[in-house]
Amino acid sequence: RSYKRQTLCRFDIDRLNAPFLEIFESLIPTEEEKAKQKQLLTLLENIICKEWPEARLYIYGSCGNSFGVSKSDIDLCLVIGEEDINKSEILLRLADLLQSDNLENVQALTRARVPIVKLMDPVTGISCDICINNVLAVVNTKLLRDYANIDARLRQLAFIVKHWAKSRGVNETYHGTLSSYAYVLMCIHFLQQRRPAILPCLQGMRATYSVTVENIECAFFDQVDKLQEFGSHNRETIAELVWAFFNYWAYSHDYANTVISVRRGSTISKREKDWTRRIGNDRHLICIEDPFETSHDLGRVVDKHSIKVLREEFERAAEIMQYDANPCVKLFEPYVP
Ligand code: CTP
Ligand code: MG
Repeated sequence: RSYKRQTLCRFDIDRLNAPFLEIFESLIPTEEEKAKQKQLLTLLENIICKEWPEARLYIYGSCGNSFGVSKSDIDLCLVIGEEDINKSEILLRLADLLQSDNLENVQALTRARVPIVKLMDPVTGISCDICINNVLAVVNTKLLRDYANIDARLRQLAFIVKHWAKSRGVNETYHGTLSSYAYVLMCIHFLQQRRPAILPCLQGMRATYSVTVENIECAFFDQVDKLQEFGSHNRETIAELVWAFFNYWAYSHDYANTVISVRRGSTISKREKDWTRRIGNDRHLICIEDPFETSHDLGRVVDKHSIKVLREEFERAAEIMQYDANPCVKLFEPYVP
């Protein structure tokens, strides 16, 4: 492999903008779908507020961070004030309440890594998972949504990357590949690194929003309406960015020595984080720092086998973007083992 290969963008790259934008548009949820999500949220809020008047229900994940494609499940987080609650007890009680309100496929998974209740609403056809007191996820959802509201190209790029990852079977943490959350952070990092930069580093700016969650101070600039011009000096189009994104992960990223950090707005060295050797199951083969839980490497799910799969998929995508006459078809061809 030639990791330091220098290639220029293909000469006809702009021809690819329209088809990429078309794919992006086709993935966006409709207003009708968003209205149905709201309807379900209101229904659930009513059920919950009768039992726990102090509790609040928050959307997190793709329906809240604006990176959700059409027909996504909704991720919800029930925040109950008290610290020392018995999550299993609450989830079981919640499951009972939901069942008696005619919601379907209600299931409490109390032993999961993140304990949840699953349900399906027969009226809207939407499924959702409810977890408890996962406030960091609610806050990182806001961070992602705020980034999305700075420059439209982030949402376009992330939809295309997520669609590619799902089509190619590399969006499955239980098989050692990356979560959607990790891919969105990779896109944000990438746009922070363009010259001129397309995205700023919100955590490096004056904090206008700040909360402390589980002893972690989460602070960043969130007045993104003031940053609408931020990326305007960079005129790169979505096709150029897709091309460059895959090139970066195929040939330019230094997997051996660096960690990507949206918090810093740059890469940092593995040495600085002490992520140089395997500890337990953390192999640090591709390092993506969580913006708030900075000891979390979102690449920790990746192992010796799946890193190879992942890098070969990045290379395949880069090759297609470079040479294929019709990359918008080939890029998303389902992976067949
Ligand atoms: N999350 C997290 N830490 C992780 C993985 C996920 O905090 N290691 C939280 C994030 O708030 C993320 C949410 O869980 O937004 C959902 O994660 P994921 O399913 O990866 O992303 P979605 O955006 O919901 O993607 P999809 O459209 O594939 O459902
Ligand atoms: Mg999700």
